[in-house]
Amino acid sequence: MAKVTFIDQGIEVEVPVGTSILEASKQVGAPEGDACGGVCACSTCHVYVEQGGALLSEAEEDEEDILDKAFDVRHTSRLGCQARIEREGDISVRISQESLEAYYNEHPNVPRPDNLGARGRRPLSSG
Ligand code: FES
Repeated sequence: MAKVTFIDQGIEVEVPVGTSILEASKQVGAPEGDACGGVCACSTCHVYVEQGGALLSEAEEDEEDILDKAFDVRHTSRLGCQARIEREGDISVRISQESLEAYYNEHPNVPRPDNLGARGRRPLSSG
């Protein structure tokens, strides 16, 4: 088993090896978007892997191509639907601003927190 922590939400979940970060988020209701349904065709599942990145599958070219079009990409960026846990251990992630926005847009019945931003990010302007 591996433990996945969604840092900003203070949510942890134990999942078997083979689980993706997106699947882990769904098990505990962590607010990670998945507009394309997890088929590597959007970037709404964009997360920052702060700990345990070496426990995850390597990013393949398709994932890198999608991340090229994502917002605020960092060296820790992964697509949650493509980052699959390959070894036991502790993994900590922050859900990106674009992923949070997508999640709350997709789930209008879920109360939206006042500040959606991952730490260090400004909230998007409300226009
Ligand atoms: S959910 Fe669309 S790329 Fe991951």
